[in-house]
Amino acid sequence: MSKNKDSSEQRRRENADPDENVRPLPWFLVMLLGAMAMWGAFYIYSTPSGEDSSYGDQRTVSTLRPPVPVAGAVMSVDGKQIYASKCVACHQATGQGIAGVFPPLAASEWVLGDEKILTHILLHGINGAIEVKGVIYNGAMPAWNTMSDAELAAVMTYIRSDWGNQAAAITPDTVKAQREATQSRTEPYQGGQELKAAL
Ligand code: HEC
Repeated sequence: MSKNKDSSEQRRRENADPDENVRPLPWFLVMLLGAMAMWGAFYIYSTPSGEDSSYGDQRTVSTLRPPVPVAGAVMSVDGKQIYASKCVACHQATGQGIAGVFPPLAASEWVLGDEKILTHILLHGINGAIEVKGVIYNGAMPAWNTMSDAELAAVMTYIRSDWGNQAAAITPDTVKAQREATQSRTEPYQGGQELKAAL
């Protein structure tokens, strides 16, 4: 008996076994989720699709297509952009170059001077002493003859018109003519003397 009593006393001390209650979602959460779902459906339904871009991204499919070159028209090339991608590392955005290493293009007699010599510099590069604004540079500049006539004309026209430079534009025809005239040259010019003599 005493054993039984003990066990019932022990049982009374114990907590009841936990058991899972049914706890429904709070009603306001259900309402909120329902409202969000309805708003989402309404938004999708009410937003026009296709090419009407008045919602979100303003670009249309046609603005994203690359421009189709019109046959015979000269594609406009941006000299400043070419300068920024091919020349700026050495001659700098200010056109001042780096003292003693890369000569300046701003107020350079080579840039402002004869358009043929300037074209030759870009077509074939320079490897040897060249005096720019009274300072002798003894570096090397690669040839840029992989650029098209229009690109070379654009970048030369650009360097002749920024940083206070004021010299006439150079046309693609000039580049074409000089490219043909110096077709046999495979080496860069050996500096300023040879450039002047080449004219
Ligand atoms: C790798 C560096 C480098 C790059 C890139 C470069 N140049 Fe040069 N450039 C030189 C150096 C060095 C000289 C001087 C060459 C020498 O000392 O023989 C020079 C000389 C010149 C000259 C004649 C001297 C002067 O200062 O007027 C012109 C013009 C010129 N560069 C234009 C350009 C243009 C335009 C581009 C871009 C298409 C360009 N360079 C890209 C290094 C560079």
